Amino acid sequence: METAIIGGTGVYDPHILQEVREEVVRTPYGEAYVRIGSYLGREVAFLARHGQGHAIPPHRINYRANIWALKMLGVRQILATSAVGSLNRRLHPGECVLLDQFIDFTKGRPSTFYDGGEAGVVHVDYTEPYCPELRRLLLHAAKEASVCLFPRATYVCTEGPRYETPAEIRMFQRLGGDLVGMTNVPEVVLAREAEICYAAIALVTNWAAGISPTPLTHREVMEAMAANTEKLRALLRKALELMPAGRECRCHHAIRELGQF
Ligand code: HPA
Repeated sequence: METAIIGGTGVYDPHILQEVREEVVRTPYGEAYVRIGSYLGREVAFLARHGQGHAIPPHRINYRANIWALKMLGVRQILATSAVGSLNRRLHPGECVLLDQFIDFTKGRPSTFYDGGEAGVVHVDYTEPYCPELRRLLLHAAKEASVCLFPRATYVCTEGPRYETPAEIRMFQRLGGDLVGMTNVPEVVLAREAEICYAAIALVTNWAAGISPTPLTHREVMEAMAANTEKLRALLRKALELMPAGRECRCHHAIRELGQF
């Protein structure tokens, strides 16, 4: 299959795919659980980032196994969803936002396939960390599906699993961050290393700490996701419908000069 969906918080079941089967894919980094189904006659993979029932916290997700498994299945593009807090007053809870940059505040997560030794040393370009072609396709799909999708935002990735302090949020604002979450790095990084196109749709579930008038809870995040999953599904369905078969992209040759992935 060529397309995969990675479902973040609140998106555990594709509810888009038919004839779904489960596969456990063995990788050098461990096993990954992937569901494979069909949509409009094409096979699509679905991976629940936090596992079924949200059992895996952000810092323990096996990002390398997940991306490696999708690569082994033949995936060439990933559409990801992500729950985020907002530190930009223009991006309100309930809104869908297309990520276009990230700032990495994770600590010590394995975040590369190129760990030296036999794997080699590789420095990959992230001038455009999210695939520009997939981003265009998603913006077009949003229009067609009448879903309001804010076209760009800078995502700050924290280590979690705790939420941020207001002082951290003020720092992220000064650094140019718009949204905060705990999972997009290293997922987006590994996808590029694996030469897979990657785009992420963030759903704003809450105002960030210190902006929100109330303390943050995982429950409010889950409730905001539940209230908006239909919108996300409509957008994903339209994107799958518009996705050209056999598409080629620069992302598929991201490390060409160093030998393919
Ligand atoms: N901070 C970090 N991660 C999040 C948030 C937040 O406010 N909301 C949803 N995921």
